[in-house]
Amino acid sequence: MPIAQPYSLLIRNAAQVLTLVGPPPDKPLAGAAMSEWRIIDLGYVACYGGSIAAVGPMHELDEALIGPDTRIIEATGRVVMPGLVECHTHLVFGGNRADEFQRKLQGESYLDILASGGGILSTVRKTRAASDEELLAQALHHLKGFRHYGVTTLETKTGYGLDKPTELRLLRVARQAGQRQPVRIVNTFLGAHVPGPEYKGRPADYLAYLAAEVLPEVQGAAEFVDVFCEEGAFGVADARRYLQRARDLGFKLKIHAEQLHDLGGCLMAAELGATSVDHCDYLTPEGAAHVAAAGQGRTVAVLLPLVPMFLRQAQYAPGRQFVDAGLPVAISTDFNPGSCPSKNLWLALQVACLKMGLTPREALAAVTLNAAWAIDRQQDCGSLEPGKRADVLLLHVPDYRELPYWLGENPVAQVVIGGEVV
Ligand code: NIG
Ligand code: FE
Repeated sequence: MPIAQPYSLLIRNAAQVLTLVGPPPDKPLAGAAMSEWRIIDLGYVACYGGSIAAVGPMHELDEALIGPDTRIIEATGRVVMPGLVECHTHLVFGGNRADEFQRKLQGESYLDILASGGGILSTVRKTRAASDEELLAQALHHLKGFRHYGVTTLETKTGYGLDKPTELRLLRVARQAGQRQPVRIVNTFLGAHVPGPEYKGRPADYLAYLAAEVLPEVQGAAEFVDVFCEEGAFGVADARRYLQRARDLGFKLKIHAEQLHDLGGCLMAAELGATSVDHCDYLTPEGAAHVAAAGQGRTVAVLLPLVPMFLRQAQYAPGRQFVDAGLPVAISTDFNPGSCPSKNLWLALQVACLKMGLTPREALAAVTLNAAWAIDRQQDCGSLEPGKRADVLLLHVPDYRELPYWLGENPVAQVVIGGEVV
């Protein structure tokens, strides 16, 4: 009989191991399944190199696989869970918008500021003016912040260049940021954020330009194509034509929709097979049922609860009803300089419980396995299963129910990415 190799890393005696493992295996978690995944009391996680080798209760641990070189981490009194998957950010941008925040506090709305040439367009000016080195340094600073909150995989969108050279530059900077630190980066092209300043008032012409001249050059550098479907950005018919073109070129699809109005963008994108539909604050429960059916249970609704909070908006996505309607949900910060300058995905989880009615178990699935589905990384991360990448968090609390409770706190004690303690 071959002698099994000793583990390279063993995390043992955890008060709870949140595996996030539960049926179905071939779709994101929806409905009751969002809370029926397995928790192991007094458990362990063992790794070989960069991958998870075994997960189970302590009484099943095979002590013969602990060798002299096995690194052991004692997790007594700690929750152990998969690394957080941050499935919607706008990581690379120049400057910040603290000045506009003052205007917002005095009552100006997000769309008013955008219409006056500010908002996204003011970040576009700062981004175009910034050097690659400045953009990279700022992105690395923000990634460090995400890591500190236990984020181990992160999706990032372009969208502050709005012309071919700058959009391609943003993709390059995001790739370099991924190479210089351990958090894995997934790239989305959001050239269709708003019409570029050169195309003011001509959204359809701008999308035609992107489709003809930019998308072909983005192939290989971005995996997803996203579009902001909203008043002041792009209408449903134009967005549909653009996403269809992107799909024909082999991109997977995402959409920013139903953020400020119910235009029907989520349903349109789900009909095209979008991997995720994001924001959804104005998506109704009936609309959610249609999205669930059109997306065949695979399209994930990415909820961004810190955005209505930061924009001082009363309307939050009715997440409770989405789950009950069978729509799989994920939670993200939407980190960006305009509508959410926070990297605290724990706070997003907490606000999703408080303002969207998710339970703690549902919210935990929404920042791990369902977030992985939202960026097509369910094979690699989002749960503690043999064969997945060894992205593991040790938390300061002994019980998962404390996670939505300690409002605003960062519960992360230790972060393991790809089997390495970081
Ligand atoms: O996801 N809604 C559109 N885009 C971003 C905000 C971008 C910005 O204001 O800079 C979002 O909220
Ligand atoms: Fe966004």
